[in-house]
Amino acid sequence: MDETAKSLSAAHLPSRASLAAWLGTAGTALLRLLPAEMAHDVGMSLLARGLLDYLPAPFIEPLTAGMRVNVPGIGELAHPIGLAAGFDKHARVPGAFARMGFSMLEIGTVTPRPQPGNPKPRLFRQPEQRALINRMGFNSDGAATVAERLRRLNWHHDRVPLGVNCGKNKATPNDRAIDDFLQVMTTFDQLAQYFVVNISSPNTPGLRDLATPSFIHSLADEVGVMLPRVWVKLDPDMERSEFQAIIAAIAHRGFRGIIVSNTHRVTFPEVGGQSGHPLMAPSTACLEWAHSVHRGELPMIATGGVLSGADIYHKMARGALAVQIYTALVYQGPWVVSKLLIELAAELQLRGISHVQDMIGSYYRE
Ligand SMILES: Cc1cc2nc3c(=O)[nH]c(=O)nc-3n(C[C@H](O)[C@H](O)[C@H](O)COP(=O)(O)O)c2cc1C
Repeated sequence: MDETAKSLSAAHLPSRASLAAWLGTAGTALLRLLPAEMAHDVGMSLLARGLLDYLPAPFIEPLTAGMRVNVPGIGELAHPIGLAAGFDKHARVPGAFARMGFSMLEIGTVTPRPQPGNPKPRLFRQPEQRALINRMGFNSDGAATVAERLRRLNWHHDRVPLGVNCGKNKATPNDRAIDDFLQVMTTFDQLAQYFVVNISSPNTPGLRDLATPSFIHSLADEVGVMLPRVWVKLDPDMERSEFQAIIAAIAHRGFRGIIVSNTHRVTFPEVGGQSGHPLMAPSTACLEWAHSVHRGELPMIATGGVLSGADIYHKMARGALAVQIYTALVYQGPWVVSKLLIELAAELQLRGISHVQDMIGSYYRE
């Protein structure tokens, strides 16, 4: 029996849940026989065909005692584990991710116009490191198509808030990037609970050059009344002083918060952005760098290397209000939220904390 199934049965969940976790894990192992992007596409198609309808729902509710968190502008979440951007880029199956138990979803990155992204292969597994390298390059169906898909879903944000991660088209020069971000936001104005400005993907040439205080100021001037709905997603590869200068600008201008962090740029064994375990330390360090600037005043969501309940603890102790995962879902399968919640409950118990909310920022108080 693998780790996921073991931890679920250890929590004395109904045997159908253990069976479902085992099936989910076995299915994930089978998908791993395929090239990485093909596995993703097959998995998404199965979800679109209602795969989860044939399996018992993950038993999330009994695992959420003491897990409620409040993320300003996003909502009161049943627990702190959300889906990171990039998994359901085109809003094909957000309902399936809600059913897996994620407490919030981020779709995208969506670009204003459709674009194919980089040539394949562009997604690679590094199983020994529990990591992925991707250079997808914002493959997007484009804002109008994705928005139409969401409109038809008539999404209830009060159940599972859904945000849109906004990008720029590859062909758009950096001095017109703000127009692209605004176009995506305007298209999703009535459809998204929150927005994320993505200036941190390593796979769109020049995108990370936008991560400067002056760009943040220009963006704030243009975003105007939508500012309290906008989060900025940052990369983990900046110098500390550079990173902190951007944090100061973001806090000063009234953005809703920051998402820390995107993938870490690598050139070996493939060129792209690395996610998963090797990203945990650098992206967690960025939370500390940010906290020393805003002292808890700027809301933070953590993403980067969260593969266990202990990882969630470390992110929240360093000031994150919630976390988002991507790589953990690839390696641990569709019952990963239940597994992480069981581990997080153990972490709380170990530390004598009764409510996950009390973990937030505890590292700075110890
Ligand atoms: C294949 C892949 C595609 C991604 N696409 C996006 C994207 O379109 N926009 C974005 O902001 N982040 C994207 N990400 C980054 C994730 O949202 C997340 O920040 C990162 O993977 C770190 O989390 P993890 O270690 O849990 O995977 C992508 C990650 C992967 C692995």
